Amino acid sequence: MLKELKLTVNGQPYELSIHPRALLVEVLRENLGLTGTKRGCNEGACGACTVVMNGKSVKACSVLALSANGAEITTVEGLANGAQLHPLQKAFLDYGAYQCGFCTAGMLMSCKGLLNMFPHPTNEQIRDGIDGNICRCTGYNSILRAVEAVSRGDYKETK
Ligand code: FES
Ligand code: FES
Repeated sequence: MLKELKLTVNGQPYELSIHPRALLVEVLRENLGLTGTKRGCNEGACGACTVVMNGKSVKACSVLALSANGAEITTVEGLANGAQLHPLQKAFLDYGAYQCGFCTAGMLMSCKGLLNMFPHPTNEQIRDGIDGNICRCTGYNSILRAVEAVSRGDYKETK
């Protein structure tokens, strides 16, 4: 039997009927068509599915959608302000903090959750913040430099 779910995603309210065992990543991708959130391991190990829920980063493959009832979710589609990229997105571009891009949406959202908690994180806090996100391409240093640049204020948010 389907269950009702209310969510706000990227500032837009939704009321959905979902399977009680549906995962948040499934609802975002399949019900809402927000396929920027990637599905990798599907068991909480890779971080590709990371979104920000009520200000904190979570792995959407490890969250039962019903447990997110009433939550405010931001996905990678909600980072930019129209054509204006989010500071993290600009810094990722400038610092080459991506290659194949498969980890990038989840990495950005982990970094967003990190900066929500620690606007000026130490190098160790950045490392901890992306600890659950696997990147097989970049070696992570460019990602660290991008987050440091944002925390220094090198990139201004336009919203
Ligand atoms: S798909 Fe969620 S952590 Fe890998
Ligand atoms: S850019 Fe390829 S996995 Fe991170």
